[in-house]
Amino acid sequence: MESVLLRARGVPNSRSIDTYLAAGGWSGFAKALSMTPDAVVQETIESELRGRGGAGFPTGRKWSFVPKDHPGPRYLICNADESEPGTFKDREIIEHDPHMVLEGIAIASYAIRSNTAYIYIRGEFVRWAALLEDAIGEAHRQGWLGRNVKGSGYDLDIWVHRGAGAYICGEETALIESIEGKRGFPRLKPPFPAVVGVFGKPTVVNNVETLACLPHILTKGAKWFASIGRPKNTGTKLYCVSGHVKRPGVYELPMGVTFREIIEGPCGGIREGHTLKAFFPGGSSAPVMRASEVDVRADFDACAEAGTMLGSGGVIVLDDSVDMVETAANLAHFYAHESCGQCTPCREGSDWARDILDRIVAGHGRPADPETLLRICRFASQGMTICPLGDAFSLPISSIVKKFPEEFERHIRAASTVPQKKLPVLPWAGSRPGFGS
Ligand SMILES: Cc1cc2nc3c(=O)[nH]c(=O)nc-3n(C[C@H](O)[C@H](O)[C@H](O)COP(=O)(O)O)c2cc1C
Repeated sequence: MESVLLRARGVPNSRSIDTYLAAGGWSGFAKALSMTPDAVVQETIESELRGRGGAGFPTGRKWSFVPKDHPGPRYLICNADESEPGTFKDREIIEHDPHMVLEGIAIASYAIRSNTAYIYIRGEFVRWAALLEDAIGEAHRQGWLGRNVKGSGYDLDIWVHRGAGAYICGEETALIESIEGKRGFPRLKPPFPAVVGVFGKPTVVNNVETLACLPHILTKGAKWFASIGRPKNTGTKLYCVSGHVKRPGVYELPMGVTFREIIEGPCGGIREGHTLKAFFPGGSSAPVMRASEVDVRADFDACAEAGTMLGSGGVIVLDDSVDMVETAANLAHFYAHESCGQCTPCREGSDWARDILDRIVAGHGRPADPETLLRICRFASQGMTICPLGDAFSLPISSIVKKFPEEFERHIRAASTVPQKKLPVLPWAGSRPGFGS
């Protein structure tokens, strides 16, 4: 299949605007400017493009929620936070093709009638923030940004805003708070950002990869885009594969290939002498899959039907050398550290899950621990928290408990032979009804 989003990889001087223009770059935006904003929204709806940031929400439909009659400014935000463990695709696009991202931002901004766009980029991405700043400078000098773009009467400025490296600031409402200069605490929805967003104005937040699809949709047409992949799961997708495969990396494939095709195809299979044990299909927040589920299609709907999610497309592959209880403990440490602390079920639940899993790994597991973990996870998911970080920590952990009970049993059975005097003191033990063993 011909590369779409990664077509610039390996092209000399691919980041320069001249190289981009020579490859037909910025012509999608030129085409958008010749259409009405509503026609651009319609074209995007017809392409069936769905957001690549995690939730897979239809992009054109999200834009259509922005009130048309809003009198003041409205904003477009490009989400380049890319903090989901196992996800490293957005930086790959920016590395080789920053103008493709800017052009996508320009098309989306025009569609929602915004004259100001922000790129919210993770604080550690110093290099990619600088590449974007350079590209913005070039685009300004050549008249693709700024006042009266190419004589169209449309004005657009793009600002790069570096975050401070918090996972939660990838969540769109925490991101909006952060841009406003506040602590990254998610907001309760509704109202949705499309109605009340940054600075209280209508705002659309879209992921880098989502926006990078737009120049191609405009130049090649919605029908072309919709012909790739499967109905309602259209276009190409960047799968970032890490873990125990022979060739980890970012691969662009038509949406809907199976996980087996990804792992055994471009990734070259599992490393020598080992077999596949499990994989996270869409970053570490997605419920884990067993090796027997490797023939599930890597698209939004097939993953949902299989009880997991495509998420960010970060495929983390684990072979038979991995201890799944240790994996769960590792995840719990990450989420306990990254929980913003606003909601009790997420703040306390992620800490308790981490402590229990650490205790099991240390050889002090108790028979009731798996059930206690499931209860903690239940209390932190299913809408019990302001933002989905509660689900992000609890769904993968509960899926590991449910899908690999024998590994918990093995640890806990071995625990009975370990001297109990080493038991760490848990602050909640015995004092919180329902959570003690
Ligand atoms: C805890 C958490 C972290 C998130 N991190 C990111 C991120 O790093 N990048 C991203 O694009 N979306 C992230 N999202 C999803 C965003 O909230 C939002 O849905 C997305 O940027 C919308 O873009 P899309 O419609 O193009 O998918 C995160 C969501 C949650 C709950």
